[in-house]
Amino acid sequence: MQIQDVFSAYKNDLQEMEKYLDKYLTSEVKLISEVAHHLIDSGGKRFRPLLLLISSKLCDYNGDHRFPMAAVMEFIHTATLLHDDVIDQAIIRRGKTSANNIWGNAASVLVGDFLYSKAFKLLSEVSNMTIISLMSRITNIMSEGEVFQLMKCGDVNITEEEYLEIIEKKTAVLLSAACAAGAILGSAPEDKIDALTRFGYNIGMAFQITDDTLDYIAQEQEFGKSIGKDLEEGKMTLPLIYALKKATIEEKNKAKDLITSKEGHEKVIPLILNLIQKYEGIDYSLQSAAKYIKDARDLLQIFGKRPEIAELNAVAQYVLARRI
Ligand code: IPE
Ligand code: IPE
Ligand code: MG
Ligand code: MG
Repeated sequence: MQIQDVFSAYKNDLQEMEKYLDKYLTSEVKLISEVAHHLIDSGGKRFRPLLLLISSKLCDYNGDHRFPMAAVMEFIHTATLLHDDVIDQAIIRRGKTSANNIWGNAASVLVGDFLYSKAFKLLSEVSNMTIISLMSRITNIMSEGEVFQLMKCGDVNITEEEYLEIIEKKTAVLLSAACAAGAILGSAPEDKIDALTRFGYNIGMAFQITDDTLDYIAQEQEFGKSIGKDLEEGKMTLPLIYALKKATIEEKNKAKDLITSKEGHEKVIPLILNLIQKYEGIDYSLQSAAKYIKDARDLLQIFGKRPEIAELNAVAQYVLARRI
């Protein structure tokens, strides 16, 4: 089974979820709908809603709450993208001009806040206290992750452990929550909720690591985001962190000068990429992602043989091999 087959199997469910996205984007303040629609309508994989829908089916939940709950995951994700593109000064997102680049930083931040609060409004309507408390906790952690990342910007001494803490906080907890929420909706026993929580965490860690390798090696057209952007913003990610760990003092100092220099990034990226290639930073990162994916797949064993397990395995494989 391939990831496209999984998306096809959930096409109707995802369409139901889209209705909530659309309904909740309307506002009397036209700029809000305009900015939010620009991003929501420009595609996006809907990966987090998909995880929630598969998890709830796996836990035998077929009730209607799964649709608004899946929309909540996408709203929170979209809010973080609006904020992230301001912080990263992104030019393109999902293959289109990014919102910050069209409407400016202030509008992007404010509409991001609108989407966050909308997500919590939807959550309160579903009125599941366990999920509300989970989502309050993880959105708070996500903000911490972004601030921690900001603190480490341009720091060539950042450790792999610190990097892993950042990606756990900024990315993995949301994918984990999407899986957990599906299981909670299905009133699954503790061990199954726990397995899906940890499955989502491992998928999330691998997802951000592959994103960070793709930032160096993807095709811009396919990826829908600028290449080399992390380095341009001084964001230290695993391929570079690993290369710097292996590099000589001279190479590390030179890299530091390049990263902090005002030199155009067209010149800097190939030099840094050389260093990454010399010390096999991309391979190391992909191996690290593969370990998370293996752990994720192992966690599914307690569910036995079910169609949703084949789907989650396909999702796990996709995260490792993805190019978009
Ligand atoms: C991008 O997430 C942000 C990261 C956590 C790397 P996605 O790759 O899921 O973005 P869209 O929603 O498909 O555009
Ligand atoms: C993911 O980090 C940020 C979020 C969790 C929103 P990135 O900065 O790598 O995300 P992209 O590459 O811009 O999508
Ligand atoms: Mg970014
Ligand atoms: Mg990225």
